[in-house]
Amino acid sequence: MNSFAGKRALITGASSGLGVEFADLLAAQKVNLVLAARRQEPMEKLASDLRHKYGVDVLVEAIDLASHGAPGRLKSSLDARSVVIDILVNNAGYGLHGDFRETPIERTVNMIQLNITALTELTHLFGRDMATRRSGHILLVASLLAFQAVPGDAAYAATKAYVLALGEALHDEFRPHGVVVTSLCPGHTATGFDAAAGATVSPLLRVLTMNPRPVAASGIRALLQGKAMVLPGLPNKMAAFSNRLTPRAMQRATMKRIMGP
Ligand SMILES: NC(=O)c1ccc[n+]([C@@H]2O[C@H](COP(=O)([O-])OP(=O)(O)OC[C@H]3O[C@@H](n4cnc5c(N)ncnc54)[C@H](OP(=O)(O)O)[C@@H]3O)[C@@H](O)[C@H]2O)c1
Repeated sequence: MNSFAGKRALITGASSGLGVEFADLLAAQKVNLVLAARRQEPMEKLASDLRHKYGVDVLVEAIDLASHGAPGRLKSSLDARSVVIDILVNNAGYGLHGDFRETPIERTVNMIQLNITALTELTHLFGRDMATRRSGHILLVASLLAFQAVPGDAAYAATKAYVLALGEALHDEFRPHGVVVTSLCPGHTATGFDAAAGATVSPLLRVLTMNPRPVAASGIRALLQGKAMVLPGLPNKMAAFSNRLTPRAMQRATMKRIMGP
């Protein structure tokens, strides 16, 4: 397969950052879309732009995926309109930067609900349908932070370790059923992520920052190629590889320095 033309993709977190790039890249391949996130206005604007630019059909679903049962409600709403999802881009997520003890536990739990629970439910709901049809593609957005513990981003990094472990295992589980599961592990990327996480960008991190377009493009390419995992950018690949050679305490100290105070 060298194009997703004619398929329908559901992209979560499609109101900003990587989600917008996934939407544009897939629409350019003549993929019809469902955009899902909380903020309706930016998604309506994006939908209108993509319809004009590429002539694709774009639906918008304003939904808080961290609210209990939201993935099921989204699936039911699409089923009721006979909207079949061929490609699921599980991208919605956010980070919490700072001291674990000082962060209100409700915020940490909400992040876990979005980054882990909603992603898992969506993968289950849409993945089962895809396996029944013996055709489908699922992209899980993990992170470079999935590869080691990160003091200062403790719970966020742990959610992404979960996403990567889930994604790699499901790659093997789903493959015999005709469904590709790919995990994308971006390093630091220039999106709305830092503002949402309450993080300032350290000078070192600034140097390592990628633009969202090539990051999203590498995810879509890896999905088409049926890969289990992709890590965009040479410095990010080297960072993940170096973990095989260094003690875990050193990995934590290095990542803490890179992620900043
Ligand atoms: N940027 C980075 O450095 C980086 C690095 C590694 C991994 N990632 C991952 O990449 C993914 C995309 O993030 P981004 O960098 O593009 O950041 P972003 O610009 O802040 O985008 C995050 C998206 O998630 C949506 N979202 C947040 N809470 C939601 C909720 N409760 N329900 C539904 N949608 C929700 C946001 O939309 P609304 O606010 O409208 O709901 C937004 O569309 C995330 O999973 C993130 O963890 C980012």
